[in-house]
Amino acid sequence: MDIADWKTTDWILKEDRVFESDPNLVKDSNIMTYARGKGFSTLDELYRWAKNNLEEFWKDMASQLEWFAPWDVVLDWKYPDARWFDGAKCNIVYNCLDRHMHTQVRNQVAFYWEGESGARRIYSYASLFDEVNRFANALVRMGVQKGDRVAVYLPRIPEQIIAMLAIARIGAIHTVIYSGLGSKALAERVQDAEAKVVITADGSYYRGKVVELKPAVDEAIRFCPSVDKIIVVRRAKNRVMMVTGRDLYLDEALATADRYQPCAEMEAEDPLFILYTSGTTGKPKGVVHVHGGYMVGVYATTKMVLDLRKEDMYWCTADPGWITGHSYIVYGPLLNGVTQLFYEGAPDFPDPARMFYNIDHYGVSVLYTTPTAIRYLMHYGERWPAKFPMERIRVLGTVGEPINPEAWIWYREAFCDRCPVIDTWWQTETGMHIVTPVVNMPLKPGSAARPFLGIEADVMDADGNPVPPGKGGFLVIKTPWPSMMRDIYKDREKYESYWKTIEGVYVAGDACTKDEDGYFWIQGRVDDVIKKAGYRLGSMEIESALVGHEAVAEAAAIGIPDEVKGEAIKAFVVLKQGFSASDYLADQLKQQVRENMGVIAVPDEVVFVDSLPKTRSGKIMRRLLKAKEAGLEVGDTSTLEE
Ligand code: PRX
Repeated sequence: MDIADWKTTDWILKEDRVFESDPNLVKDSNIMTYARGKGFSTLDELYRWAKNNLEEFWKDMASQLEWFAPWDVVLDWKYPDARWFDGAKCNIVYNCLDRHMHTQVRNQVAFYWEGESGARRIYSYASLFDEVNRFANALVRMGVQKGDRVAVYLPRIPEQIIAMLAIARIGAIHTVIYSGLGSKALAERVQDAEAKVVITADGSYYRGKVVELKPAVDEAIRFCPSVDKIIVVRRAKNRVMMVTGRDLYLDEALATADRYQPCAEMEAEDPLFILYTSGTTGKPKGVVHVHGGYMVGVYATTKMVLDLRKEDMYWCTADPGWITGHSYIVYGPLLNGVTQLFYEGAPDFPDPARMFYNIDHYGVSVLYTTPTAIRYLMHYGERWPAKFPMERIRVLGTVGEPINPEAWIWYREAFCDRCPVIDTWWQTETGMHIVTPVVNMPLKPGSAARPFLGIEADVMDADGNPVPPGKGGFLVIKTPWPSMMRDIYKDREKYESYWKTIEGVYVAGDACTKDEDGYFWIQGRVDDVIKKAGYRLGSMEIESALVGHEAVAEAAAIGIPDEVKGEAIKAFVVLKQGFSASDYLADQLKQQVRENMGVIAVPDEVVFVDSLPKTRSGKIMRRLLKAKEAGLEVGDTSTLEE
């Protein structure tokens, strides 16, 4: 990462309101129960202890889970590589499912699935165990082995969760690709992971329409020689092309599968999944997470941050195609043996009542959603939430992008004005919440509060000096944590760059300010990553899709402030000679991005320009375009060529 290109600003937001939650709601929180068990009567005491006893804290968390063989050491830290619970044997799926088969959790509901059209399916822990075993056995029969990569390109249907667990159960590595991504994005990921099998569906439902998935897979795997089988889940019952010998329907594969497939014994440090995310280059990065440490980090934060308990009904509106879904739909809740709602569709379909209806109907008590969803609903007005009592809500969470104080306040007022709003900052790479409030903390709207227990984070300048309160700097993590990524798949250098941009600490890529109370205020990305509606997109990925069009000579894509989506995408395009600008061409370019990358990456605006600002070495200065859009001073332009 080239930190010289990054600019931070001092704190511009002035927000001094502080909110306390209803003491009755938070007094028996999981975190306070843990604190009392350790002999502490306040959160501060617990935080102080954990800071000085990091390994002890994580050992406590790990001890609440089951291991096939114990660890030799809690942490083996050889900068920049950490091994957690080294020597231990485990399987995260054993802890999500098998462990509960001997307890009351067995007959409890794992998740209620609600289709967009109102279809319903209910899975108890026992029935989920059964489904996962059969799916796992079908994969084994197909020749999938420990360490093989299997790609999952599915919509939000139960099979998405079942497939992930089945793959991990046999020690294979899942790489889940968000079903909204296009065929080129899919091909790139499957190619890089060299997946043997792709699991997809005939189609999915979104906003009342059938969205096709199989054609994108057929197109993508033309470039993926590693793939020898495609499993197709029947969902939309639309006609798809099936290639004999290569493609088979899931129900056919399950018909001959055994009901039990032993859980593979994994080393704690064995990879669990590769999840691709966007960075500053044109190529997505394969973030690698492992069975042991990831399990402990996600288990602990689901319990202590989201405060999930047996009596809860939890709903996270994310998609398992992203890290939020991996950690806080699939693994975290199952590790904790809690019940959740898993909803297929858009929260405002067929109208904005859907979100509130779901909460009310299922009695959701812990809700985890995004600032964009909140701002969408806010824009529809009070009358929608006012129709639904939503009496059971006790915790409100947000994730994925900075939340502005106005949206924070509206969220609380509209959903539950006695409840804590937990603004959780973390990343694909961190695997779990890093800077976040917990339910018992005084809360400031727009602040992610403090580093979680067992985490040391700070705000630094480019030379690694801590910056004083109120000053802008880079968010860094100073010590390893169990669910940190272990690698960028096949790109060791990239992995190291996170820990070497500022020597000795992990640089997240976000600008941040700390206030006098030590609360963190995250300002957003400082690199060429765009956060549109919480989706993480690389400027260069969008640009490379644009220059794939015959008319385009050069392109630059930047994020510009958007009231609802946080950021919108604006693309600047230089045309080749012989092509002229038109609305028609702009639409064609948007279509080009849609087909390559998927609908989430489509520029909101395409403008045609004669040239782009570049450094003398030919690098596009997106920072300059951004500053100009925001009406700011363009800053140092001494390296500008034109
Ligand atoms: O910029 C930060 C933003 O999302 C980035 C990570 O994106 P991704 O890997 O897709 O993971 C999103 C879900 C964890 C971060 O670098 N971000 C995430 N949560 C917050 C946030 N920005 C501000 N406040 C948050 N709570």
